[in-house]
This record gives sequence, C-alpha cells and structure tokens, in this order.
Amino acid sequence: MRILIASDHAGFDLKALLVGHARDEGHDVLDLGTATPASVDYPDFAHDLAHRVLAGEGERGVLICGTGIGMSITANRHRGIRAALCHDAFTAELARRHNDANVLCMGGRTTGPGVAVQMLDIFLATPFEGGRHQRRVDKVEEQGAAKTGPGVRGPGSGNDSALGAAPSKEDKERES
Ligand code: RB5
Repeated sequence: MRILIASDHAGFDLKALLVGHARDEGHDVLDLGTATPASVDYPDFAHDLAHRVLAGEGERGVLICGTGIGMSITANRHRGIRAALCHDAFTAELARRHNDANVLCMGGRTTGPGVAVQMLDIFLATPFEGGRHQRRVDKVEEQGAAKTGPGVRGPGSGNDSALGAAPSKEDKERES
C-alpha cells in the first residue's frame, strides 16, 4: 500500500521506526518529514499530508507529534480527512472498521514503539465495514453536520439519549 507519513520533532524517532517497519513489510512509503530532530510546527506537516492524501498521493496517512493531538486537530480541518488519534490496537482497528479513518495519528511521547508498530499494521490491514457505518461516515462528511443543538437531530437520526432524552425501544434495539 502507498502510505504517506509525517511528524514534527516530537515524533521524529517514532516516524523513523515506522518508516523502516512499513518498508520492511512491503509498503511504498513517502516520508514527508520532518527530516531532523530540530523543533518545527506540527500544523505545517499535518496540512501538507492532508492535502496529499486528498490529492490521491497515498491511500493512507500517518501523523506523529508529541501527543498526536495537534496533528489530529489539524488534519481533521480538511474535509474528507478522517484522522483518528489512536493509542492501542483496539482503537486502531475500530478507526478503520467503523470510521473509515484515512489518517492514523499517534503520540511520540505517549506511545511506545511496540504498540506503535502494532497499531500501524492493524490500521493498514483492516477494512472498513461499511453498512450502518457508511451512513454515519456520510453524515460526518455532510456540510450540515456541523450544526448542533437539540432541534437539529430528529427521532431516529442519532442517539437521542445523548441529548438528555430517555432511550427509546428502537434506540435500545439498534445495533451499536
Ligand atoms: C511539541 O512540543 C508538541 O506540542 C507537539 O508535538 C504536539 O504534541 C502537539 O499537539
């Protein structure tokens, strides 16, 4: 698989490890920097990678900063990017199966090398389940999805219990 990867200085060492591992696994990896451990600004790298994923330069992206938070916040400003900040095998797997995430974010200061490699392998190998999750991803991508407030979501359009209403029978029966 063609993957794009970038980090700031806080993710530099982990990026080097993941680039080597992904290449050993046979992936085609484009390393977008940073190229040295000198201090840089994570948004520069997250915006660049997001533009390139949306342009089709790679099927998936990986972004690493100190915590993964800044990278995920920045990448998710781009419509069509679904950047998932993951911390373990379970979140990496569900980011693909349920969210069709196209960018994996992680923290170079929060995630050890063994877990990072495991998350990358899972993220690249796991397919999207589609079905009800496709409907939800479509809603994420809708322009109007940014509207919020109690009047916006009608019955059956979401988890009404999140708005303070008691869950209906249909809510309870609905698959997770
Ligand atoms: C850099 O010190 C740090 O703030 C950055 O790597 C990242 O963790 C931001 O979210």
